[in-house]
Amino acid sequence: MSVSGAKNHALKIFAASVLFSGPVRIGNVPLIEDIFRMSELVSGLGIKVRKTGGHIFEINADTLNKTILDSEIASRFRASVVLIGPLLTRLGRVSLPHPGGCVIGERPIDFFIEGLAKMGANFKNKGNHYFFEAKNLIGADFTFRNPSVTATETLMMAAVFAKGKTVLRNAACEPEVEALAKFLNDGGAKIYGAGAHTMRIDGIGKKNFLKQKNPLAVIPDRIETGSFLILGALAAGPSGIKIKNCEPTHLASLISHLESAGVSIEKGPSWLKVSRTKALKATHLKTREYPGFATDLQAPFVVFLTQAKGESLVHETIFEGRLEYVSDLNRMGAKITLCDPHRALILGPSSLTGREMESPDLRAGLAFVIAALVAKGRSIIHNVYQVDRGYERIEEKLKKLGADIKRI
Ligand code: EPZ
Repeated sequence: MSVSGAKNHALKIFAASVLFSGPVRIGNVPLIEDIFRMSELVSGLGIKVRKTGGHIFEINADTLNKTILDSEIASRFRASVVLIGPLLTRLGRVSLPHPGGCVIGERPIDFFIEGLAKMGANFKNKGNHYFFEAKNLIGADFTFRNPSVTATETLMMAAVFAKGKTVLRNAACEPEVEALAKFLNDGGAKIYGAGAHTMRIDGIGKKNFLKQKNPLAVIPDRIETGSFLILGALAAGPSGIKIKNCEPTHLASLISHLESAGVSIEKGPSWLKVSRTKALKATHLKTREYPGFATDLQAPFVVFLTQAKGESLVHETIFEGRLEYVSDLNRMGAKITLCDPHRALILGPSSLTGREMESPDLRAGLAFVIAALVAKGRSIIHNVYQVDRGYERIEEKLKKLGADIKRI
């Protein structure tokens, strides 16, 4: 199977196009619901978005003429929040509702507010609606209390045209952040150190909008790659599953956890091959910022651990509401004890039985799909919009691997 482009890279490229003059061409864009919502959101700002080929989009922000994000659309996905940075620096103002997305914890935006205030922006809110204004943003030295992916991306984009130098400390190092910086630099931005915890952005002033020089392909989705590795270890047919067009170096932590549970994985430069492993061993897991174990792979990995012999402790350190789905796995026959909102104890192996379930968010939704494929009997998963937010034609990819799945 072939991995799609990364949701959390593609969405930020759509937002970054606000900083460009002339067309921006993006290849390998995943055809998923969050991308459709982002297209609608930026089109509503006057930006032209065209799908010019299978997975190719062309965006032109020369016609950008609005700074108010549509509340209904913006409140449906978290990535809408990164538009604050480019809109504020290009047009001097932006207003938006509290960004939506997965219900996995509180997901505040205090780092955005504090960082932009340090760069000279005024902020006010009316209930859950936010207003930012800045005539001219100025460089600042800002330290994140925790590394935040979307806040790092937002401040990085806000700093591109700011006056002077911005330093972001304890910044997020996720591959999608680094890839976004590379795209901005290719267009003329001056960002140094993206992919490390301290980065510097030398503002280039507003007169110099960015210009795309080279074609851009969205990087492979590491969460989709990881989910298929997990599925393969649990349920691959006799010839295993080969996952193509992926970036194995982005999956180092998951691969190390799978290997410590007894799974063997063959690695190539842009592919991975995994076989079904019968005698899985329990393994402890703590989610961490990149390059640690991705919180977005925590739910599929918990499904994996239900099939491993012994007791595994999973500690979700990033979000406080991201283990609630385990009650559904227990209804399927798993033996998982929720110690507190951040920790779960899994006793395995347990035999799972098909059930009817509701996807609480996109990653847990896919974890339910994996659990359903491992379980005996039939499962029905509702609210598949959540799964479609992040995975392109998932049932077709799974069917090609031999899964018995259909969309009803
Ligand atoms: C991004 O969310 C991803 N979303 C998430 O993917 C991913 O789970 C997460 O990063 C962690 O890797 C997008 O890129 C659109 P954070 P983000 O800000 O940026 C706290 C998926 O399934 N925090 O890095 O919203 C926050 O509460 C999604 O694709 C503040 O306290 O996450 C959390 O504890 C789900 N104040 C921690 O930082 C702030 O102002 C890290 O969250 C911002 C964040």
